[in-house]
Amino acid sequence: MRIAMIGSGYVGLVSGACFADFGHDVICVDKDPAKIEALQAGRMPIFEPGLDALVGDNVRQGRLSFVTELAPAVAGADAVFIAVGTPSRRGDGFADLSYVYAAAREIAGAISGYTVVVTKSTVPVGTGDEVERIVREAAPDADFAVVSNPEFLREGAAIDDFKRPDRIVIGTEDARAVAVMNEVYRPLYLNAAPILVTGRRTAELTKYAANAFLATKITFINEIADLCEQVGANVQEVARGIGLDNRIGKKFLHAGPGYGGSCFPKDTLALVKTAQDHGAPMRIVETVVAVNDQRKRAMARKVITACGGSVRGKTIALLGLTFKPNTDDMRDAPSLSIVAGLQDAGARVRAYDPEGMDQARPLLNDVTYAQDAYDCAEGADALVIVTEWNAFRALDFARLHSVMIAPVLLDLRNVYTRSVIELHGFYYNGIGTTQ
Ligand code: UGA
Repeated sequence: MRIAMIGSGYVGLVSGACFADFGHDVICVDKDPAKIEALQAGRMPIFEPGLDALVGDNVRQGRLSFVTELAPAVAGADAVFIAVGTPSRRGDGFADLSYVYAAAREIAGAISGYTVVVTKSTVPVGTGDEVERIVREAAPDADFAVVSNPEFLREGAAIDDFKRPDRIVIGTEDARAVAVMNEVYRPLYLNAAPILVTGRRTAELTKYAANAFLATKITFINEIADLCEQVGANVQEVARGIGLDNRIGKKFLHAGPGYGGSCFPKDTLALVKTAQDHGAPMRIVETVVAVNDQRKRAMARKVITACGGSVRGKTIALLGLTFKPNTDDMRDAPSLSIVAGLQDAGARVRAYDPEGMDQARPLLNDVTYAQDAYDCAEGADALVIVTEWNAFRALDFARLHSVMIAPVLLDLRNVYTRSVIELHGFYYNGIGTTQ
């Protein structure tokens, strides 16, 4: 199959590289010449484990290339994937579809022969209809179908998720398009990935429903964690106790500082807007959005309380800034609210993140960046684990104790257990546990 991937961001780049690895000929297109130049030189615009090797390998094999010109890539393609950004629109929180529609217009001008246009970007219900209208209007004689094929990969585990998906969702009623999509994903049949062929609108909504459900699951366990702290229960054991019930499932029940990232915050908000616009408000998701926002801010207060009620003039050391480990992505990271809350209360903030500091610098003012966890803890009145990078899972607490002013550990990801940390002479505060 010949594939054109429009947009070389997270989803576009990972999907493009994986499709090439399946043996397809893939051309990744991006308007940003600096990004394309970097990719051509083998430099990745994002940190994602395994991506540089995968890209390098497939470029060498001649199956993957990077260009800024959309037209030639589309003209020779059997399938054109739209994987451009759909950020939250300023003001109303609805998904900004201007990049998707601009791509559709450009694709229309270049299409030749039967072509399947696939929306891979997360797009609200009805976007596929509009993409079809745009292409049809601009190229009335074009032979094409528009398919929704949402992506469910996670940052930090993107390649594995793409190659071993729980399911593939294909939204179209066009039999020829189903045949092309089956060919595109054929290598995954070997992994027995179930393929769900459904209506286009259903596929579009499935993506939002999945993300909103997962965000709800996290928010639910976060509220249970708060209750655990009040009643002397342990949230990790509650999570295990409910997660062993197959109807609930074990995953996405880790209590923490609130979900962040480029997807859950944006997609929950967009779903809320879609639901309101269609007179079917999703009050559960509205509440999830509000509770999660408040939670991120509340984490700074938790630190302040652990420091005896005031952090004025104190130094707080943060371990981890990215919204999750194994990424350099800072979008909607809880650390942003935590740093702001601590600085508003008069604290000095030191921070260390294995990959995220370059992305963090333009977003955070007056933060001192450290070289590692121990450098970060130097002279600190409290140490806060904000992101559960592996580098923070086996810290030397004797060494930390010797460099800190006060041995206080706030473990917002429950990486450690209280009894072990207290043995090192630390005051310990996790999430959803008092024992
Ligand atoms: C999420 C979904 O998991 C993917 O399936 C989806 O494809 C993606 O959004 C997307 O729409 O593009 P991602 O945002 O990369 O993936 O990362 P997750 O691993 O889902 O984590 C999201 C946030 O939830 C992080 O802040 C994480 O720390 C938090 N989280 C996750 C918890 O607090 N507890 C959990 O149990 C799981």
